[in-house]
Amino acid sequence: MRETISPTKSIAGVITVPGDKSISHRYGMLTAIAEGESKIANYSTGADCQSTLSCMEALGAKIDRKDGLVIVQGGALRESAAELDAGNSGSTIRMLSGILAAQPFTSRIGGDESLSKRPMKRIMQPLSEMGAEIEASGGQFPPLTIHGRPLRGIDYTPPMASAQVKSCVLLAGLFAQGDTIVREAIRTRDHTEIALQEFGADLEIERRVIMLRAGAKLTGRELVVPGDLSSATFFLVAALLLKDSNLVIHGVGLNPTRSQLLDFLVGMGASIRVLDLQQSGGEVIGDLRVRASRITGGVIEGALTAGLIDEIPALAVLGAVSENGLTVRDAGELRVKETDRIATIEMNLRRMGVAIESSPDGFHVPGKQQFHAAEIDSCGDHRIAMAFAVAALAADGPSQIDGSESAGVSFPEFFSTLRGISS
Ligand code: S3P
Repeated sequence: MRETISPTKSIAGVITVPGDKSISHRYGMLTAIAEGESKIANYSTGADCQSTLSCMEALGAKIDRKDGLVIVQGGALRESAAELDAGNSGSTIRMLSGILAAQPFTSRIGGDESLSKRPMKRIMQPLSEMGAEIEASGGQFPPLTIHGRPLRGIDYTPPMASAQVKSCVLLAGLFAQGDTIVREAIRTRDHTEIALQEFGADLEIERRVIMLRAGAKLTGRELVVPGDLSSATFFLVAALLLKDSNLVIHGVGLNPTRSQLLDFLVGMGASIRVLDLQQSGGEVIGDLRVRASRITGGVIEGALTAGLIDEIPALAVLGAVSENGLTVRDAGELRVKETDRIATIEMNLRRMGVAIESSPDGFHVPGKQQFHAAEIDSCGDHRIAMAFAVAALAADGPSQIDGSESAGVSFPEFFSTLRGISS
């Protein structure tokens, strides 16, 4: 699909964004393995999170949708006759593999073309250490054939900053003999730890060391998924860069392992206020008011890169119109996301006449640049489609976003929400 985006003077109004993708995946999996009924409100409408639910359904969970709730009857999983389809979702295949590795049956799990190129060694390695037996295409890519085995707990330090790897090991640890420890060199999003505690797992957390004690029983719960801050980012950036904008984004998840984004933006001069803070299911939720602002520019490196990894496409767009530009370092992980995001950011910025220099693990976008109308290629990557739709709002004529339907992976309502607040 191709969406045309015309330049817009400003955006204003009150919007909501879909339920958080990361939290929805975790709730989708944990409700399916917890005993009894769970009710999830505001579950993500994105295709990725639907992939998680279909996998859990294929594995025997009973899932109904009623009055805006996802209602899950969980318990012991059973073998799926068909290959499990994770679609475009790295979170689904990596986290679910932890659960599958411990089941008394064999599973096959794969996904679309993009997913079939994403590295799986990072989960195969710790799971094999726990006793699992996994085969992968070319030794490292999906589809995976996972022969469930009795697992033993391990003490694991992931070699990269990855919440998916951490979560995979912890989910496997739920079924293992003995305790499972994950030590993070760089702290990543902690939704799994929070959700596990909510469902009744026995977890001890000391700074960046998470210890899961085997044997606790998980039970069904009623939960509300906060709005997705990563989805909200596209609208934060749009409001910051379009003159006179004034936007409220309602009910957004502000977990501290995700909200470094707000500190980073405010540190660059963004006018963002957090209104009405609340807590639900161990997660923090608030409304965000954002106004058009003069942005100085900045550097994303080290631990901050891991904290902002999903927001970098949108921040690259903001960097181009900032005073001093944006530098991103230590971001080799961007090359193994839904696309090689360093390459897809670079290609599309250049199409818009914007200068960028890239390196193997980062890039620099000089500031004070102007977006020119262009044909954008999302390359099937939701965050690239949405980031460049925002750039197109500030361009000098109408732009086309090819592959705009990919926004549906995390935010099916993105383009209609945008139309509703543009003037
Ligand atoms: C996610 C973790 C991150 C992030 C992804 C969602 C999660 O991936 O990029 O969109 O929900 O745990 P990595 O674990 O590969 O860094």
